[in-house]
Amino acid sequence: MKSLISINDLSKDDIIRLCNRAFYHTAAHTQTLINKIIMTMFFEPSTRTKFSFESAALRLGGNILNFSSDHSSLQKGESFNDTIRMANIYSDILIIRHPEEGAAFKACDISDIPVINAGDGKNEHPSQTLLDLFTIFRERQNLDNYTICLAGDLKHNRAIHSLIYALKLFNVSVILAAPPGLELPLDLEHLIAHRLILKTSSLEKAIQNADYLYMTRVQKERDENLPDYDNSWIITPELIKIHAFKDIKIMHPLPRVNEISTELDLSSHALYFEQAKNGVFMRMAILEYALGVW
Ligand code: NCD
Repeated sequence: MKSLISINDLSKDDIIRLCNRAFYHTAAHTQTLINKIIMTMFFEPSTRTKFSFESAALRLGGNILNFSSDHSSLQKGESFNDTIRMANIYSDILIIRHPEEGAAFKACDISDIPVINAGDGKNEHPSQTLLDLFTIFRERQNLDNYTICLAGDLKHNRAIHSLIYALKLFNVSVILAAPPGLELPLDLEHLIAHRLILKTSSLEKAIQNADYLYMTRVQKERDENLPDYDNSWIITPELIKIHAFKDIKIMHPLPRVNEISTELDLSSHALYFEQAKNGVFMRMAILEYALGVW
């Protein structure tokens, strides 16, 4: 049994094995989680992550226990630690999302069951990165030799932070594009210094040579004073037509606010709904990996 708190918990081989297993799930129907109880414990809003983990568990024959903080004894003053201890008694695996950085690690530290980090503050979101990589893997059959532009609020977006940890393992070229004040923290930038080919505050420049544009929204829940993107940070069909030289694919962890024009949704550039779909297959693989049932 293995927890997944950070992408750094995985080797390059582990990531490729998980992609292969997720791909297997695109066609196969296995019941590897029969008799397993999966607890989802989300202290922050979620649509895709929570439902795709639950859907993945149900598709593999598992059962869901859905913890709701509003209706739990946390409201009576119970501690986080005691809440996690109860999750250990009632379930076989815990999927946790929490606004505090390090919360998943803390839960893991006091758990005997595997813990999956479904997002801890602005720190990490490893299962999102795995489904992002799986989406690229499905397109190219490998995870090397492409250029990816990470764009938007690189400072606060945990999906970006986990993606950085993963990209340093692969032979890829990285472009960083952020509005002033939202740049990637320097410690993370240093990790991919050997992959970095351009750092810019111009989205137009950033997309010129990219195969993938990974866009993110402004993370207002991390700092309510953050301004919205100005128009130069909205991806439109015109922007792509004029400035992208390659057949660029647009990725986004979602939810989007207004940073990708809906006019692109049905275009061959849009990969963001595919990502959401691939999330179920990858999370099937993650649950099996964590529970040691494959
Ligand atoms: C991301 C998250 O929660 O960090 N969303 C997701 O899980 N699909 C990104 C975001 O909320 O912007």
